[in-house]
Amino acid sequence: MSAEPSAQELRDLVAEFEPNKGHVMPALHKVQETYGYISRPAIEAIARQLNTTPALVYGAVSFYSDFRTHPPAQTEIAWCSGPACRLAGGDRIREAMQATLELPLGGESDDHRYGIHVGQCNGTCSEAPQVWLNGQVVGNLTVSKAIEMAREIRGGGE
Ligand code: FES
Repeated sequence: MSAEPSAQELRDLVAEFEPNKGHVMPALHKVQETYGYISRPAIEAIARQLNTTPALVYGAVSFYSDFRTHPPAQTEIAWCSGPACRLAGGDRIREAMQATLELPLGGESDDHRYGIHVGQCNGTCSEAPQVWLNGQVVGNLTVSKAIEMAREIRGGGE
């Protein structure tokens, strides 16, 4: 979901978190899981709730590559950068998909229909190498399957 939340919704969403208890990361994860990204107002709501500065919260957002600061594309591809996926050929999957989509990692199409970014291992390594399409595992990929999938995503059913 990528709807713009109101200030009140953001306050309610992070109301359970408390200052000085290491709650910055859990609060950020909750916002991203709910809205698909972490907006500037969300950073401010978390900072207020945790009695800290927006700069500190933003620092955590920018340090971890799995946090996003803008709404996800319609079809968001997360490429697993974990060790099992890379051992199983994940880098070749990434290269093939990027070449087909003509996107850098972290990029998205001009029409906002698709994007690709780095994801972290989520424990489903038995299906390595894999990507997630809008959060759904697409595993046991080969280079040819990855290219076919990227073509479909890029073509958008044309
Ligand atoms: S390394 Fe990719 S899912 Fe674990």
